[in-house]
Amino acid sequence: MLRNVLLRTAASPFWISQIEWWGRRSGLTRRFVAGESFEEALPVIRGLQDEGLLTTLDQLGEDTRDLSAARRAADKYIELLRRLNVESIPSTLSIKLSQLGLAIDPNFCRDLLGSILAEAEKVDNFVTVDMESSAYTESTLEVYRWALDRFGTARVGIVLQAYLFRTEADLRALSALGCHIRLCKGAYREPRTVAFPRKSDVNRNYRKLVRVLFESPAYPEVATHDERLIRYVQRLARERKPRDSWEFQMLFGIRRSRQRSLARAGYRVRVYVPFGTQWAPYFTRRLAERPANLVFLLRHLGRR
Ligand code: FDA
Repeated sequence: MLRNVLLRTAASPFWISQIEWWGRRSGLTRRFVAGESFEEALPVIRGLQDEGLLTTLDQLGEDTRDLSAARRAADKYIELLRRLNVESIPSTLSIKLSQLGLAIDPNFCRDLLGSILAEAEKVDNFVTVDMESSAYTESTLEVYRWALDRFGTARVGIVLQAYLFRTEADLRALSALGCHIRLCKGAYREPRTVAFPRKSDVNRNYRKLVRVLFESPAYPEVATHDERLIRYVQRLARERKPRDSWEFQMLFGIRRSRQRSLARAGYRVRVYVPFGTQWAPYFTRRLAERPANLVFLLRHLGRR
């Protein structure tokens, strides 16, 4: 219920401005977002890497409504790839296609992704396409398949969400091709016609899908903070894939000590590090995942 209300606010400009105000005043934003610029995020990224963690960077932004803004977003990603290369910062990128204008013109978006991937090819980097609400699933997969055809599995990966009914078919098809697949539970508000409404069913489906991944030629990216799933995957992986052919992935600011303990135990662990000024929708999804975050925010504001 609270989750749905919060996720609905993520789509409203009025509530976005309120959330920005609350997030800044409470300081809670900094727990989930590494900074408002790359300069601010850089010490955070280096700190994670010093602890043996891998990183993937999200230059925040989504639901871009005009093509010039989409182009600017793509140019910023290209600049970021060059900068990572020049400064020898070993980090991949994660990109939302709605930031590149998917909702306005899928062909334009596809070309922008192509230009980012061409740069990634030059500097030998890797890009994962994030998965957004189910309104975008089909078009995101179409653009991803196009990119896969041109750039191959070693250059571009995809996120799939265990809460969607369709994901099993998508995952079976893409895992057979040996793709990098980041499997998460799913963070958007979805109708019962397309997604499991109950968390227990999502968790059950996650286990089923992750088993398929580990039995396929895919490179599994296990994106969860759920301890039961983490332990399940540790057991599952033992006899199926060597540790350098899959990874755990977690979000910046969530279960930090677990990220470090898994890395110390010899697992590959990649942290998803978001930065930028357009952090409100991302931050709202993090609040929606855990009501305790909202309670913290309100309590903190109450004290001021
Ligand atoms: P679950 O929600 O059951 O949480 C398990 C435990 O993790 C909780 O008990 C708590 O301890 C901790 N936890 C989880 N969320 C927390 C929070 N917000 N604050 C504090 N603690 C928290 N989704 C999507 O739809 N599209 C995408 O492209 C991505 N990309 C992505 C990349 C990566 C690397 C990760 C880890 C996740 C995503 N997600 C995503 C988000 C994902 O779908 C999901 O919403 C969150 O990971 C929370 O689900 P868990 O699997 O962690 O389980």
